[in-house]
Amino acid sequence: MAARIIDGKAFAAGLRTRVGDRVAALKGERDVTPGLAVILVGADPASQVYVGSKEKMAVAAGLHSVVHRMDAETTEAALLAKVTELNADPAIHGILVQLPLPRHIDEGKVILAIDPAKDVDGFHPINVGRLSIGQSGMVPCTPKGCMMLIRDVLGADLSGKDALVIGRSNIVGKPMGHLLLAGNCTVTLAHSRTRDLPALCRRMDIVVAAVGRPEMVKADWLKPGAVVIDVGMNRLPPTPGKDKGKLVGDVDYAGCLDVAGAITPVPGGVGPMTIACLLDNTLEACLALTGTEA
Ligand code: GUN
Repeated sequence: MAARIIDGKAFAAGLRTRVGDRVAALKGERDVTPGLAVILVGADPASQVYVGSKEKMAVAAGLHSVVHRMDAETTEAALLAKVTELNADPAIHGILVQLPLPRHIDEGKVILAIDPAKDVDGFHPINVGRLSIGQSGMVPCTPKGCMMLIRDVLGADLSGKDALVIGRSNIVGKPMGHLLLAGNCTVTLAHSRTRDLPALCRRMDIVVAAVGRPEMVKADWLKPGAVVIDVGMNRLPPTPGKDKGKLVGDVDYAGCLDVAGAITPVPGGVGPMTIACLLDNTLEACLALTGTEA
């Protein structure tokens, strides 16, 4: 049987609407508007596109949205000063520093400077630590979105499911592992040194691929009926005269369609969930910072 195609685009649109409704209610009832500040240093084209989308969707959801564009030569001290200023700004509840930063700036130092209560990326070591010990805190947007999609397919209770995360990045793989563990899955985190990944993968009820290797996960790696979440975004080389390079995930989507129980497409799967969860995190941060009940 063909897999259910998980429509992340539609799910994300629904989530943005729900956030928008709660933002409107908060404004009407408490005169509080959640504020998101994004800092973009330099002119990386992909980052400019991401930041533009974030701004557009934040405004559409009714958030107070500010983007601070700083030039590529900005010093680390100037960036840290901007973060400090936003930490103290009562109109701002969420701060996101777009990564990657220019090489002369220490990313770790900048993340550490963000008030953990305003760290809507969930990258501050305090939030990383909270997630690892099962305390509530800011959860990174992409893995949070993946969990929502998995629960939409399998229901809220994931107890006892075998889950494989392929990739151990700080942004996706590691927090994804913690979230699945918190959901009572039996979790395996695989990476470049993992032995016999196809055989390991064939035992899994849930597979989250976040390695950045185009179409790596094949149909014969899957247990029939597995839920497959593809975080990959890889541009294939262009075919002259035909296309500018197709966007593919880490999963051989066409091949896996016949074996998986449910699968996210690329594009239109996990991608749109990231910004929707960023808006959700900003609302959550605002509620916590202003002592307002949801
Ligand atoms: N660059 C690519 N993805 C992300 C993200 O989720 N957060 C930030 N801050 N930068 C990114």
